[in-house]
Amino acid sequence: MEKKWWKEAVGYQIYPRSFKDSNGDGIGDLNGIREKLPYLKELGVNFIWINPVYDSPNIDNGYDISNYHEILADFGTMADFDLLLKEAHQLDLKVIMDLVINHTSDQHDWFRESAKGKDNPYRDYYIWKDGVDGGPPSDWQAIFGGSVWEYDETTEQYYFHAFAKEQPDLDWENEEVRKELFSMISWWLDKGIDGFRVDAISHIKKAAHDLPAHETKVAARYQNIEGIDSHLNELKEVFDRYDIMTVGEASGVSAHEAEKWAGKDGYFNMIFEFEHIGLWKQEESEEFDIKAFKEALSSWQYALDGKGWNALYMENHDVPRSVSAFGNDSKELREISAKALALVYMLLQGTPFIYQGQELGMTNMPFESIEQVDALDSKYLYHELRKKGKSEEEAMAVIRATSRDNARTPMQWDDTHYGGFSENKPWLSVNPNKSTINAEQEQTETTSVFHFYQQLIQLRKENQALIYGSFEELLPEDEQLYVYLRLLEEDVFLIIVNLSGERAAYKHSKQLEKLGEDWQLVLGNYFETGKLSELSTLQPYEARLYQLKINEKNSN
Ligand code: NOJ
Repeated sequence: MEKKWWKEAVGYQIYPRSFKDSNGDGIGDLNGIREKLPYLKELGVNFIWINPVYDSPNIDNGYDISNYHEILADFGTMADFDLLLKEAHQLDLKVIMDLVINHTSDQHDWFRESAKGKDNPYRDYYIWKDGVDGGPPSDWQAIFGGSVWEYDETTEQYYFHAFAKEQPDLDWENEEVRKELFSMISWWLDKGIDGFRVDAISHIKKAAHDLPAHETKVAARYQNIEGIDSHLNELKEVFDRYDIMTVGEASGVSAHEAEKWAGKDGYFNMIFEFEHIGLWKQEESEEFDIKAFKEALSSWQYALDGKGWNALYMENHDVPRSVSAFGNDSKELREISAKALALVYMLLQGTPFIYQGQELGMTNMPFESIEQVDALDSKYLYHELRKKGKSEEEAMAVIRATSRDNARTPMQWDDTHYGGFSENKPWLSVNPNKSTINAEQEQTETTSVFHFYQQLIQLRKENQALIYGSFEELLPEDEQLYVYLRLLEEDVFLIIVNLSGERAAYKHSKQLEKLGEDWQLVLGNYFETGKLSELSTLQPYEARLYQLKINEKNSN
């Protein structure tokens, strides 16, 4: 398999608003990130992906860009950015920027011009249509709720938005638009950044706008639509001029298309798929479906093994905290289940991404009222639920379980009033559990979730089998355990994780016996010892990593 720096790297996602406030305004900033680079080095990651820091009216926290070439004042200045890039590079940390090119803000100059009149030169930068029978051009629903069509009184036409109405979609069919975007991309790459995470990129192509909406899937008519490949290939041509890494956010792309998107000649080096994590899910969390989770992860592993590369993640700024959603955030099981989730995904084949605070096992936020919530989609959902007759408590239960603000509460650095995030009241409340869950404490405790992540990163660095080794799943039918092998010539690792909160029976398989007998326990979350061949039960969320000792194997 071809070796690449981004295959060997571990990434760390920074949500700048909530990472570290350096100037006391309650909002995280670029200098705050710079201050914490040594922490990231201690953890052992190799690159950071920073969520959007461009100029923006912040309707969707930076995903509504009004100027691609400016830094939002809340975050600092371009000089602060340049300094961050320089210092990160001095520490051998690469910097990946967020690239939002499906839409802009409605405050972007292009849209302001576009909205002025039908004959404005920027009119066709966006998607404008006449209404039908006194209503919108079609019945398509936007991802954040409501119609995708917004009526504009001045020009008496509707414009298209996949997300909020303040985020009009660019018209990728217009060559001028593509040219503008590609030159902006080159401008950033010429600055020396190391790549992009490409936002909402599966939405850039739309179906014929007069088709009826698909009944079950919200974005069906504007997600991974036939013909998208020509736009993506043009984009790839720009990327290919640089030695960078690219990761596409690709909702609606399934494993059978993995190679087109993230194969050797795919549009991106890797993509964030959404099959193992429900994005934009609007119901209260159901029971964690372990079988479906395993199937999703394994199907992506097999689809790209030897043919491409995966982006591995358990959390990001759009989903609740993994330890609350898939693990157990009780006092007894939080650390154990956080470690189980770490082990299960960090050693799959692909580049692992850690979302800020995940390395501490940060949990969901006990939001008490909708006033404490900022995310526009959560507010919309809350009001919809109330309109449908749900009580305040019922609606808040849904928000607590599903809101992306769970992941956006300030980073918990220490146990002081605002968790060491800021001197002053932060833009979003700090989780009250900062007194027991915080970086300072976890950095000193050798058995902490932080140290577990540190060990996993180190192990990955020291063992090529954990990077380039092939993937083989064992016990695919098991309803509690996720078991897989990573194999590279003589080197064999075995990962066994109980993803359930119940004890799980384990039976040593013939296949493993054939590989060898001396399986050494390298890492675990229960500090157990004993021979693998005698292992018969795993504790709730127990996770073990074994390595096959070569001498033993050779003598067999
Ligand atoms: C995906 C981003 O991750 C999310 O935060 C944002 O709201 C949408 N794309 C729209 O840009």
